[in-house]
Amino acid sequence: DGFPAEKLFNQGYSHTYDDVIFLPHYIDFPTDAVNLSTKLSRNIPLSIPCVSSPMDTVTESYMAAAMAAVGGIGIIHSNVTPSEQADMIRSVKSRRVPILSSPVFKAPDSRIVNEFDGDDVPFVFVTQSGNNKSKWLGYVAKSDWLGLKDKEIKLGEIMRMDANVSVPWDYDLGQIDGKLKEEGRDFVVVEKDGAEVVDVVTKEEVERVKGYPKLGKGTVGSDGRWMVGAAIGTRESDKERLEHLVKAGVDVIVLDSSQGNSIYQIEMIKYAKQTYPELDVIGGNVVTMSQAQNLIKAGVDGLRVGMGSGSICTTQEVCAVGRGQATAVYKVSSIATQSGIPVIADGGISFSGHIVKALVLGASTVMMGSFLAGSTEAPGSYVYDNKNECWVKKYRGMGSLEAMSKGSDQRYLGDTAKLKIAQGVVGSVKDRGSVLKFVPYNMQAVKQGFQDLGASSLQAAHDLLRSKTLRLEVRTTAAQAEGAVHGLTSYKTKAF
Ligand code: XMP
Repeated sequence: DGFPAEKLFNQGYSHTYDDVIFLPHYIDFPTDAVNLSTKLSRNIPLSIPCVSSPMDTVTESYMAAAMAAVGGIGIIHSNVTPSEQADMIRSVKSRRVPILSSPVFKAPDSRIVNEFDGDDVPFVFVTQSGNNKSKWLGYVAKSDWLGLKDKEIKLGEIMRMDANVSVPWDYDLGQIDGKLKEEGRDFVVVEKDGAEVVDVVTKEEVERVKGYPKLGKGTVGSDGRWMVGAAIGTRESDKERLEHLVKAGVDVIVLDSSQGNSIYQIEMIKYAKQTYPELDVIGGNVVTMSQAQNLIKAGVDGLRVGMGSGSICTTQEVCAVGRGQATAVYKVSSIATQSGIPVIADGGISFSGHIVKALVLGASTVMMGSFLAGSTEAPGSYVYDNKNECWVKKYRGMGSLEAMSKGSDQRYLGDTAKLKIAQGVVGSVKDRGSVLKFVPYNMQAVKQGFQDLGASSLQAAHDLLRSKTLRLEVRTTAAQAEGAVHGLTSYKTKAF
């Protein structure tokens, strides 16, 4: 019944996730017995197979902290200066709660002006240097300055000093909740060693997060801090960027390129592995077995797969190269497995079913852009879309002209060209709420898919695939229409 993957993917067609469907197998375990733990790269274990994409509308500190909190990982984008990118890494590593409020810092002799009145700034922290790099002296709450008649008064004169309001950086949500309750406080200050302020965590935020599915230990490294990755390019200047990131404690590096099988990337892989042997280096993107083989030979610890399959990508249309994502993931995984190199299926995820397909076809993780870009933790603010009557966030391709004007053109090796050619677009995506809720719900759906296939783990799914027990079929256009909602005049899509 059906075809084994080997037969289906060797007929000269480029299949996308939607083109293929798995036939159900035999169930002899409950959904909760499915274990989705996996590896991002050779030395980075994850408890769920989810990675946020290094894009400037997807992964900065807040997203990376939240992804680590749910057991996945975030890769910080490189469309900023090396020191800004390193600061984002430090920010993720300086807390153990998936909350980031980015407080405002001022020096003691700063005066209250009305500059924050319209903004959502609940506290101003007073530090000697006026930034978060020195010991904090006190704080001024919004309610304090709103009531003030004399707006010229110095912050140092009205600040409150309460050393007991602080907790150490490694307090988790439960410990902070305990402190808030025991002492009847509305907020705590999270402090690094040396009394520098990391963040402010309010009772309101803790209550919000407590309403989501219970968080496990998250992705914590041997240093007791959350693990986080970062993207770099392959220019000479990226060696200096890499040094900044390593100093900030980055756990894994992703060489960010739309076509990774290049002399530039191979040289960078060798340089990074030689200079920082302890650091995992992920190469890509690749979509063919021979591209993968080249990067494996150069020494990568993980491979990122996908070319033109992303929701904002126009590479296949503009450059006529790429591959259907289901075929690419299957082909690259079949060669990477032989060397024990985990594969990241990057792009093209719009439903939990796409995640099941990517993982079962051989990937160890999925990397997502648009799927996460509408969440609370993605950079940017929501705006109301009057036409579609919903809140949206901006999402843009790193190959869009808008993003490339900030530096991401090197991802497309376009650095010497005077004419910039767009390989991506700018758009917006619907509000999805917090990833702390959204990701666990999707993982539950993925577990149900695995259960239908009789696979209780990623390894079990890959064994079914290679032993030809797993059977697939290509879906006709009519079968795809039948598999989607049809025949209704209207419906609601909310899945949880
Ligand atoms: P999704 O489908 O998750 O895809 O939104 C995210 C992935 O798309 C890639 N990417 C691009 N590809 N032009 C492209 O051809 C672009 O402008 C672009 N920006 C991002 C990238 O691999 C990302 O993880």
